[in-house]
Amino acid sequence: MLVLGIESSCDETAAAIVRDGKEILSSVISSQIDLHRPYGGVVPELASREHLNKIEPIVLEAIKQANIELKDIDAIAVTQGPGLVGSLLVGVCYAKALAFALDKPFVGVNHIEGHVYSIAFENPPIEYPALALIVSGGHTNLFFIPAEGKYKVVARTRDDAAGEAFDKVAKMLGLSYPGGPVIERLAKQGDEKKIKFTLPKISDGRPDFSFSGLKTAVSKYVRENDIQPAAPNETISQEIKDLCASFQYTVVKSLVGTMERLARELNPKTLIVAGGVACNNALREGSEQAGQKLRIPVYFPSKHLSTDNAAMIAAAGTFHLKSGEHSPLSITADVTMRLQNFEVEDAELRRKKVRYRL
Ligand code: KG4
Ligand code: ZN
Repeated sequence: MLVLGIESSCDETAAAIVRDGKEILSSVISSQIDLHRPYGGVVPELASREHLNKIEPIVLEAIKQANIELKDIDAIAVTQGPGLVGSLLVGVCYAKALAFALDKPFVGVNHIEGHVYSIAFENPPIEYPALALIVSGGHTNLFFIPAEGKYKVVARTRDDAAGEAFDKVAKMLGLSYPGGPVIERLAKQGDEKKIKFTLPKISDGRPDFSFSGLKTAVSKYVRENDIQPAAPNETISQEIKDLCASFQYTVVKSLVGTMERLARELNPKTLIVAGGVACNNALREGSEQAGQKLRIPVYFPSKHLSTDNAAMIAAAGTFHLKSGEHSPLSITADVTMRLQNFEVEDAELRRKKVRYRL
């Protein structure tokens, strides 16, 4: 089965051709990082306009690089949500129009499920049950996956996503966007034990994450120690390098610690770590060590597949298409889409007044 994947949920316009959910024939990504960099974050209006400019050439490039013709594809998979509504609409409308014109089936895919499938290309097949940590600029979730296609959220962030915390701390320190790669680079030259940041305890005892307090702690430390933000073209101070290392150490400790604790409870056979923050080598090393202690394999996507791409969307879509699912042409972008269909606890959480921002 040859599937055309289309991704436009945030600031990457991407298209890919994937065979049988496993083999990438082409994967083309047009990143908008340079467009948004002056603003220190994604500007939704600019993002959707840029997707409109890029969607057609990127899809045609993916077809060309795969050495096929449009009529050769069997189906189309497109990110339906969550994400920025204007950005999602560009991909969804384009995919629907193309599916209609070619008279091919198409399926709307959850972007987070896409990240889970980003490990499908370069790793052995997943053994279930699995535990997946999905960490990106918009999401921080731990999913228990008892069987393919079944997801239970076992931990999630109460406020900021991990990648968002990297981006905001970088902005505070005068570093460029996106913050994750810059902080990782500077952290290598800093002392991770220099500043001790504490992680909040969630008062209702749930194993959730919270990064907004850490961001505030960094801001307080900067103020109280009179640390000057980095200026363009100036050498970065040792204080900022130590701050980057200590911040990254705390985030990784929180992510890996929670993953390891829940793995001991749930006994998965595979750990999955994916999403943009999975590019981070400290997180990779910490997760590898957790896997060794638990004696289970840890699967990561390569860096190209860690950040947003369309190959992962095609792979997730292939699973749904092979299960006989198609989407009707009446679907539209859905920013509220959630990935949970097994032992869903939402009603109970509402009763206990547990609130999540995302
Ligand atoms: O998955 P992604 O491309 O987009 C979303 O779906 O959000 O993730 C982007 C996020 C950004 O917040 C970026 O700072 C973070 O991933 N990121 C990193 C690294 N590379 C990218 N965070 C930490 N360390 C990195 N090396
Ligand atoms: Zn993503």
